[in-house]
Amino acid sequence: MLKRWRLFAVGLAAIGLLTAGLQAVRARLAADHALSELKAQYVRPRGSPPAPEDNQSTPERVALGRQLFFDPRLSGSGAMSCATCHAPNRDWQDGMATAIGRDGRILARRTPTLLNAAWGLPFFWDGRADTLEQQAVMPIEAPGEMNLPHAQAIARIAAIQGYRQAFAESYGDEGVTINTIGKAIAAFERTLVSGQAPFDRWIAGDERAISQQAQRGFILFNTRAGCSTCHSGWRFTDDGFHDIGVGRDDEGRAGVMPGIEQLRFAFKTPTLRNITQRAPYMHDGSLQTVEDVIDFYATRPVDRPSLSPDLARIELSAEDRADLVAFLGTLTSEDAAHHPPTLPQ
Ligand code: HEC
Ligand code: HEC
Repeated sequence: MLKRWRLFAVGLAAIGLLTAGLQAVRARLAADHALSELKAQYVRPRGSPPAPEDNQSTPERVALGRQLFFDPRLSGSGAMSCATCHAPNRDWQDGMATAIGRDGRILARRTPTLLNAAWGLPFFWDGRADTLEQQAVMPIEAPGEMNLPHAQAIARIAAIQGYRQAFAESYGDEGVTINTIGKAIAAFERTLVSGQAPFDRWIAGDERAISQQAQRGFILFNTRAGCSTCHSGWRFTDDGFHDIGVGRDDEGRAGVMPGIEQLRFAFKTPTLRNITQRAPYMHDGSLQTVEDVIDFYATRPVDRPSLSPDLARIELSAEDRADLVAFLGTLTSEDAAHHPPTLPQ
């Protein structure tokens, strides 16, 4: 009798263990499934970057745009080019809190990276330019920047034999116009794509490409920390505008679209690609390190009506912050050095 009971109990325990085991396996499978769905949102697009119908990329257009980008003759002083502020060896930024313009004047905003600009619409921290073509000709005549009226820019470029030839090859009969100058520069900018980072290798299936801590950071980034609400997809931006509480004089997007409370102090969500190499941070360069940025989100020092409601949910322990920093470190790619081109004479 006793023996039979014992057998029964052992049987029950075995069944219990088995179901618990099955449940654990099932939970594990579900978690793996959720993780792989999450990872699928971060797969890089294949093929060449998108370009508008009327400015498809050709090697001639890209080469011409690259020359114009590096050419100081497109500035009033003859000393400043796009590359002065968007420097190739600084991830197409300048490392300054805010840019230095003509004659050393301090500009109001930080120079953004041009990496992956082919995908990011609209442009500027406040989104005041709709396309890269439109944006490219604005700094040329901006008095605080390159300070060269468009008519003079056209005359200077058209006077250079090598350029006349390159424009004819790239844009046919239209030749040198402000329109084709913008198009060529935009065609070059679309080639500036961030390279493969450890994070991309992890997304592609290499489990050891990033640390366990960074993997925890990635999950946190997408869940409890709520970062992916705005920093979404492989470029880590929704291309939207949000007030996260930085600065109090510059009204950002509200300067372009007045009268909408949520757009006051709202700035374009920056990409997080190569983030560790692109200090200082924010539109005004007010935060020095990635750690400072995470602390800023954790403590939310500013409260005002326009502040994004998505920030309120963010709660971060010391360990969470370290995990997030580890994750952000995996987004840095090793890009080949970019050397300035020879300019036409
Ligand atoms: C004096 C420094 C300086 C020069 C020169 C300069 N830029 Fe910029 N660039 C900036 C700053 C600062 C911003 C951000 C301004 C803003 O958002 O109001 C910016 C923004 C941009 C953006 C928008 C990026 C984004 O993600 O929204 C593009 C594209 C760009 N510049 C391309 C160029 C091109 C092309 C040239 C040359 C024709 C050029 N820049 C010359 C400093 C400079
Ligand atoms: C409500 C949208 C939103 C959320 C949520 C959000 N961010 Fe941001 N993030 C932004 C915007 C907008 C900026 C630029 C703000 C500015 O310059 O005024 C920014 C800037 C940054 C920067 C600096 C980038 C640079 O180039 O200057 C980092 C790093 C960053 N965020 C990481 C995070 C992390 C990590 C989280 C989660 C803890 C997070 N963000 C949550 C919108 C958001």
